[in-house]
Amino acid sequence: MTSSTDPIPADFPPPRSCPMHQPAEYERRRTEAPVAKAEMPGGGSAWLLTTFDDVRAALSDPRLSSDRRRQGFPRYAPTIGINAAVSSGGSFGDRPLMIGLDGDEHAQARRAVLGEFTVKRMRALKPRIQEIVDDHIDAMLAGGSSADLVQALSLPVPSLVICELLGVPYSDHPFFQSCTTTLLSWKSNSDERRAGLVDLYGYIKRLCTDKENATDPGDDLIGRQIARQREQGGAVDHQGLVATALILLIAGHETTANMISLGTVALLENPGILARLRDDPALTPAAVEELLRFFSITGPVTSRVATSDIEIGGVPIREGEGVVALLASANHDGTVFADPAAIDIDRGARHHVAFGYGPHQCLGQNLARLELQIVFDTLFARIPGLRLAAPVEELPFKSDSTVYGLHELPVAW
Ligand code: HEM
Repeated sequence: MTSSTDPIPADFPPPRSCPMHQPAEYERRRTEAPVAKAEMPGGGSAWLLTTFDDVRAALSDPRLSSDRRRQGFPRYAPTIGINAAVSSGGSFGDRPLMIGLDGDEHAQARRAVLGEFTVKRMRALKPRIQEIVDDHIDAMLAGGSSADLVQALSLPVPSLVICELLGVPYSDHPFFQSCTTTLLSWKSNSDERRAGLVDLYGYIKRLCTDKENATDPGDDLIGRQIARQREQGGAVDHQGLVATALILLIAGHETTANMISLGTVALLENPGILARLRDDPALTPAAVEELLRFFSITGPVTSRVATSDIEIGGVPIREGEGVVALLASANHDGTVFADPAAIDIDRGARHHVAFGYGPHQCLGQNLARLELQIVFDTLFARIPGLRLAAPVEELPFKSDSTVYGLHELPVAW
């Protein structure tokens, strides 16, 4: 088994020759050096894991920590970024976000909100999500015969849903959307990122404080957390509440928004698949799984640092060394997904790792699946003549962000 310090491009992840496909570098690594070191743009090196088995083994190994404050945690952005929000500490807050916690502390934070994301809860949200999607498509149709799908549908739908779920006023969405974009973008400079983080943190802190001070905290996720903690007789854990609300707001809209845009492009580019979905919407859930696998949008979010000497794929990893579990590469591992670069809605892709694996596996996955299914079913049924208004190669893909996607998506009908 090869293991080497093999500097991959400074602009991690490596470039794509086609914006709709994963970097060829991943396949090279899977076959030549599945567990190999790479220089990270934020300084230092980390082990890149590229096969499905190694990625799953790493993400379920308790000796690999998600704590961004630990020495050796992979630094994929050169300046202060989402890692700072995740680790908080000092000037920003006092509690790392759930995604950056380990062990019991993590389990406790996750358990507190798990009940909000069950399949049953999501089913109850379905009519409201459908209404939100219909309203936005009505507005698109009323606005003429072309639109930027990102602004008209992809961003507002998941934003509105997460706002209503959390109890965050949707009228504030331009503010927190721009903060999140700044935080996730690798092109923002230190000052911009710091300002975005401080603003977003301050906003959520104020919102939680207002709800804690209100006689009725409201029937939304934040309000229910407050009410539950009071029923249990304890004081409200303000810092825990802020940390939960912040991760849900950050994680809850940008990810799904990008999948809506990318999925729309993929379906428009594959008219045979689209025709099958139109004929039989029962196929949509399988198509959504395949699109999640195909795009695997979250980049190096699934990073870890070893807390003791371990072995992955036969390669020794020392305590304090960073590891990046590349979900996109795992989901394109040809030994698990035959012909991985093809979109095949019949392959049964449900075991993909686009939502991660192990204890940190995406908390919002049932919500994301539901939103994607409703959007695709409704969009293509209601606008049968939908088409891209620019060639795929000319679309502004987000190669500069922790979450892959599209800045804009011009469509016409
Ligand atoms: C297509 C959409 C989405 C994708 C691809 C995605 C992907 C991911 C991935 C890969 C992780 C694992 C991170 C790790 O292991 O370190 C994760 C965690 C998480 N996601 Fe998502 N996500 C999506 C949508 C959402 C939504 C809609 C929400 C909330 C409403 C959400 C909330 C979270 C939270 C809270 C975590 C942290 C869980 C933990 O640490 O236990 N995500 N997501």
